Formats: sequence, C-alpha cells, structure tokens
Amino acid sequence: MIRKNNLVKNICCVGAGYVGGPTMAVIADKCPDIKVSVVDINEERIKAWNDENLDNLPIYEPGLVEVVKRSRNRNLFFGTNVDDSIENADMVFISVNTPIKSSGLGAFQASDLRWVEVCARRIGAAAKGHTIVVEKSTLPVRTAEIIKEILEAKTKSSRNDEDKKTFSVLSNPEFLAEGTAVNDLLNPDRVLIGGEDELAIEKLKNIYSKWVTNNKILCTSLWSSELSKLTANAFLAQRISSINSISAICEATGANITEVAKAVGLDSRIGNKFLNAGPGFGGSCFKKDILNLVYLCRYFDLDEVANYWEQIVQINNWQQTRIYEKIVEKLFRNLSGKRIAILGFAFKANTNDTRESPAIQIASNLLEEGSILQIHDPKVSKDQISNSLEVYHDNNKLDKSNLNDNWILKDTIEDAVINTDAVLILTEWDIYREINWVRISKLMRPPSWVFDTRLITNPQKVRDAGLNLWRLGEKENDIDNKFNSSKS
Ligand code: UDX
Ligand code: ADP
Repeated sequence: MIRKNNLVKNICCVGAGYVGGPTMAVIADKCPDIKVSVVDINEERIKAWNDENLDNLPIYEPGLVEVVKRSRNRNLFFGTNVDDSIENADMVFISVNTPIKSSGLGAFQASDLRWVEVCARRIGAAAKGHTIVVEKSTLPVRTAEIIKEILEAKTKSSRNDEDKKTFSVLSNPEFLAEGTAVNDLLNPDRVLIGGEDELAIEKLKNIYSKWVTNNKILCTSLWSSELSKLTANAFLAQRISSINSISAICEATGANITEVAKAVGLDSRIGNKFLNAGPGFGGSCFKKDILNLVYLCRYFDLDEVANYWEQIVQINNWQQTRIYEKIVEKLFRNLSGKRIAILGFAFKANTNDTRESPAIQIASNLLEEGSILQIHDPKVSKDQISNSLEVYHDNNKLDKSNLNDNWILKDTIEDAVINTDAVLILTEWDIYREINWVRISKLMRPPSWVFDTRLITNPQKVRDAGLNLWRLGEKENDIDNKFNSSKS
C-alpha cells in the first residue's frame, strides 16, 4: 500500500539532455500529481524544449513530441533557474553529461566528473530540508560516494535546525536506448534502484509503480546498481564486437554474416537481439562505460579483466578502420580528390545524436586520404558534424587547416551522390532502404561503388543498376579465387 507521506510532490531534474529530457517527460506524463522541473545551464537547449513548435525540440525521439505535448506547462516545466528548482524539490535527479576525460589522469579512459561534482555542490548549496538525490547519469562505480561526501559536508555545516539540510542518495541508472527512448521508458525490462535509505527507495519506487509492475522494479545496494549499469552496457557492446569480428571472418571465408547471426541467435540461450553486424557501436555510453570498467579494473590491479574488456573497444575501432581501408582498396588505392557520399552520420537510426558515431572516425580517415565528402543525414545538423569532426581531429592531432573545405552537408540523397565515386551507408535510416539505385547510378561517376555497412541494400537491385557493391560480412565476387589461390 502506498502511504501518503511517501509520495513525492516536486521533482527537479538537472540536465535536459538525451536522458533527462525524455525520462522526465514520461514521469510527468504518467504522474500528473507531481510537478517536474527540468533545468539546464544551456539556455539554447531550454529554449528549444519550450519552443511552441514541437518539431524544434532539441532531441529527436519517436513519440517524444506527443508525450511533451500532453504535460508541458501542465506539470512539466523546462527552465534555467537551477537553484530555485532544486530548493523547491523533494527529489533531485542528476542527469548531466559525463564524457570521457580528454586530458590529465585517466585521459581517454576515466569519466570526466566535473559536471557531476558541480551539480552535487549546487544541490548541496540550494537544497532545503530533506532531499533525495538520484543519480541518473551513467557513472563510474562509487560515484554515489563522492556525491554523498559533497552533500554530507553541507549537512554538517548547517548552522541551526531551521536551515538543517539532509540528503539520501540513490542510484537509478537509465537503460533507455536512443531512438526507442519513449518506448523503453514506458515498457522497461526492469527499473533498478540502488540505495540504503528504505524510505527514499519507497518514494522512488512509488513513482515508477504508476506504470511499471512491481516485479520489474529491482532494489539493490548502491554499488551493485552502479556496476550493473556498466556491466549491462559492456555485455551489449561485447555482442556487437563479437558479431563484427565474425563479419570479418565471413568476408574472408565466404560465409554470410546474416545467415550466421540468424543461426546463432536461434539458440534461446544466446537470443537473436543485438546481433546486427555494422560499422561498430557508437553512442555516448558503450565506449565510455567499457573504458570506465577497464579503468576500475586497473585501479584494483585486475589487469587480466581490464585487458579482456578493453579488447571490445579495440575490435570496435578496428571495424571502423577496416571499412575505411576497404574503400581505399576498392577505389584504386587513391582517394585524392575523389568524391564520396556518406549516407548517415548519426550513430544509429532514429536519433540526431552523433556522439562516438562510427561516421566520425571513418569520415576523418577518408578526409585524411584527400577525398571530398558529400554527407547526408535526415536529422543531424551541419554544426553537429562540424563539431564532431573538429573534436576528433583535435584528439588525434590531425591537420584541421582544410577540414571544413572538404566536406559538405547535402539536403537530399540525390544531391549527396552527384559526381561521387562511391556511396557509403553508415546509418540504417529507413529512407536508405528504399533508394532507387538506377536513378542514383546515373548521378555517379563510373566505375561507381556502394559500400553497405548496415546490410540494408537489396544486392540484386544495386548490381542491376550497374554499381559495384561491397556489403559488410558478405562474400565478395572474387572471394573464391582468393581462397583457392591462397590454398595452392
Ligand atoms: C545503449 C544501451 O542500449 C542502453 O541500454 C543504455 O542506456 C545506453 O546505451 P544507445 O547507445 O542509445 O543505448 O543505443 P543502442 O541501440 O544500444 O546502440 C548502440 C550502438 O550499437 C549503435 O551504434 C548501434 O548502431 C550499434 N548496434 C546495436 C549494432 O551495431 N548492432 C546491433 O545489433 C545493435
Ligand atoms: P545525456 O545523454 O547523459 O543526457 P547530454 O549531454 O545530452 O547527456 O545532457 C546533459 C545536459 O546536462 C546538458 O544539456 C548540459 O548542459 C547539462 N548540464 C551539465 N552540467 C550542468 C549543471 N551543473 N547544471 C545544469 N545543467 C547541467
């Protein structure tokens, strides 16, 4: 039974990004009695969340517009007044960014916790009375301890009973995947709550139980909850690196990756999900979480475990490198001045997110070879592509002097392929499944190539249009000759 004093009335969510925005929109939609304020220091982002035209929301997620429409300015509010919102809240979610550090100790491995720390200090300063602080961002194991320490320092420094502040810290990792966020939030496989304070746990549980059955709400210790999130992402990423490594064997031997994935996935112990070979995993979580795990293992002198997980990221990088090398090989080992159309820059379909997208590394490598890129993506903006390429060039110490002269974002697929020697499909957007290859082939410069890294083309139709085709994890035309000559 839900007791009345166990109900939360005011939620503040710090961070209006890919996690905070959709998660709070769904909570507000499902809990009309709770006032949900989502705050961010990024004014532009908040302006976009408040835009009258719902097509301008800062995050593209199928189904999100409808959810926001129902609750915005009813019990869902977006603003920049972080302190006021924290002060009025009885529960504060931390949903700020936690990218990988790019310098200093643990550079390119450990998470950069500066935003979490700033956020915790701000909660410590602005909160009043008792506040439940919920860690929502994916964080390294034991971050909750850091948050607790920062908040407890504030509790201790409260001067009298009147301004006494107390805090309970919970971990409630988000398992939503971009592109299916709304559905994942509405129908989660499980909701995980880690913590020690039973009353705080019950209050958070009461929120989710508005639409999630109790048997799907799992309560654990703080550390188990934090580690479960890292482990779930590491396992998922591991499946992708596993199938991608097999895609290379398929190409070498003449097996077909789709057939192999199907045969393997029909084993109910393995299951058929997450077995699509592709250009490698992207997104803000997988690489970061595995590297966090690796960092944690090294910290505890578990080098063998660290090496094991690190290999998953290495295979992921290798997959991207070998795709670029394949393009160089097929285009007569010379890309200088050649035009290549890149179809898809988002790290997967149905999102406008480009964080860690395989397109960034592959495009940068192709640019290094001297090619000119004509990029198309239905949802990604020019600024995002520009920022992603610049950061990659900086991190890898690549020459940026002509960077922006050598790529262009095109509005249509037709515009993107004009005068190109090759089309490279990197994101599995539905519109790329329906391409009329006869029309496309007329716009390209022969001999023209199509490189399909997502296996979404109809091979017969592409070849009938007079185009050369390379598909990831599939036999190439000359494979039998190669195999026979290497054997003899
Ligand atoms: C992931 C987790 O799925 C989610 O639970 C967690 O909360 C955040 O990280 P996300 O990164 O949004 O979600 O997307 P996901 O669908 O997991 O895809 C990640 C990457 O793996 C994408 O680049 C995708 O293209 C790739 N992928 C996925 C494959 O290459 N093959 C597959 O079979 C599945
Ligand atoms: P995620 O995918 O984890 O949601 P995003 O980068 O999309 O990550 O969103 C994180 C958001 O958190 C950003 O919009 C950023 O401006 C915001 N943010 C970071 N630090 C703070 C802070 N101290 N106060 C308020 N918002 C913050």
